[in-house]
Amino acid sequence: MGGQGAAIDTVAVIGAGAMGRGIAQVSIQGGMNVLLFDAMNGAAAKAAEAIKAQLDSLVAKGRLPAADADAAKARLAVADSLEALAPADLAVEAIIENLAVKQELFGKLEAILRPDALLATNTSSLRIASIARSCKHRERIAGLHFFNPVPLMKLVEVIRAPATSDATIAALVKVGERMGRVPVVVQDSPGFLVNLGGRAYTQEALRIVSEGVATPAQVDAVMRDVWGFRMGPFELMDLTGMDVNFPVSQIIHEGYFYDRRLATSPLHQSMAESGQFGRKSGQGFFRYGEGGKGEVPSADAVSESAPITKVALAEDDDALAELLRGLGFEVSGFDDGQSPILCAPLGEDISSYAARRGFDHRRLFGLDLTGRTDQRLTLMQAPGAVRALRDGLVAQFIAAGRKVCTILDSPGFIAQRIAAMVANLGCEMAQIRVASPADIDKGMMLGLNYPLGPLALTDRIGPGAVLEILSQLQSITGDDRYRPSLWLRRRAQLGLSALTED
Ligand code: NAI
Repeated sequence: MGGQGAAIDTVAVIGAGAMGRGIAQVSIQGGMNVLLFDAMNGAAAKAAEAIKAQLDSLVAKGRLPAADADAAKARLAVADSLEALAPADLAVEAIIENLAVKQELFGKLEAILRPDALLATNTSSLRIASIARSCKHRERIAGLHFFNPVPLMKLVEVIRAPATSDATIAALVKVGERMGRVPVVVQDSPGFLVNLGGRAYTQEALRIVSEGVATPAQVDAVMRDVWGFRMGPFELMDLTGMDVNFPVSQIIHEGYFYDRRLATSPLHQSMAESGQFGRKSGQGFFRYGEGGKGEVPSADAVSESAPITKVALAEDDDALAELLRGLGFEVSGFDDGQSPILCAPLGEDISSYAARRGFDHRRLFGLDLTGRTDQRLTLMQAPGAVRALRDGLVAQFIAAGRKVCTILDSPGFIAQRIAAMVANLGCEMAQIRVASPADIDKGMMLGLNYPLGPLALTDRIGPGAVLEILSQLQSITGDDRYRPSLWLRRRAQLGLSALTED
């Protein structure tokens, strides 16, 4: 009955809070016996009742056969002491997030459980190696990181510390599957996979708003309509809460030794420090009224002007010409000195484009052609743009049935800039072996509901185009934040998919 590699029949769950309950529930539903322990008197028994009630409600909704619920309930037992956990093949710790307390617990578990039993922690921010540091048999210690609420979130990160054995990882992957989860194997590094990978989406959005390019409502609308994200970055931050996501951003930035690519913005800190946490405090980037519904200002441009239909193209661009003709524009290659001039830059802002090509920046406007353009368009302008021309363009876009966001100058607009940062971080995670390319995509889709993984997103835009966007951003801003990952650069240079291993 050795834990490593052999079947795991009995799981000790230590800590019967939100996470421990969920872990116990999926364990008994997966056919394993559970010994549930909590340091607080009566907490484990109360949790056991809550788990049973949860199973009953699944039966009532017709989602679980009554016989399966009864069998699962029979596998759940409350342990009154740590010593009572001795028969366990695997212990999963889900107690308070405090290193010293976890280290002490692991020391005790090592003394109580068999030497070949597996020990796992559900920590979300501590290093597995630190928790295991004073243990003797560190090869059997790993992370088993679940997401809240456990029964609904399919992903589990199996985290490998430097001393963890392959057999331990293999056994935990199997246990994760038996619990009905989808396991991904992750290195013991700051933020593990999902919490690290999620930084780019929100932090680049904060950057764009901090630069005055667009409002939170516009950024959210663009990311939903252009790339199909279920939630925009600002509604997402309001949901998790600035009291949670700001410290996570700080820990990960520090953990990667202040890599500029992972830096968040002063705006994020201001929100956290002012107590504008989001949904839970009634005010974040948006206000939340009775019933928790967000009051989100409109992201859609309006125009009182007469539509302008005559435009010049800044350069030959079949995709842009086709889009504009489809929207009822008369497109010419000749600049008549009066009409708006349109371009579709990759990573370049309108100011740089106008200066490089010698165009009149007051009449030059950009459209973002990355992602979907059939719902919403993003129209970008340089400082000093002629407002009447912009409003005339907007009027025609609206007449043709498109929603439009009008934004100020930004290398990479909104959609391509955030997407390039998400893609680059996914590539960097593959490069530094946080997880395999396939697991990175799987983790981000299941853990954060992304419509596609960051490496698939890289392929969708094209590795060469992502590299171009980032290189432009890096050169225009002079900021190392936009430094392309070597993983991306090599795949772009060689014409390979971002999912290519090695
Ligand atoms: P919680 O506060 O709901 O539950 C913690 C439980 O542990 C409490 O019942 C407490 O009495 C018990 N406890 C504290 N010290 C103990 C000890 N020395 N021995 C035995 N029991 C002890 O916390 P929650 O949210 O369930 O989190 C638990 C762990 O899971 C933390 O490490 C947290 O970082 C991690 N985690 C939390 C997630 C979340 O969204 N809440 C997501 C992923 C991981």
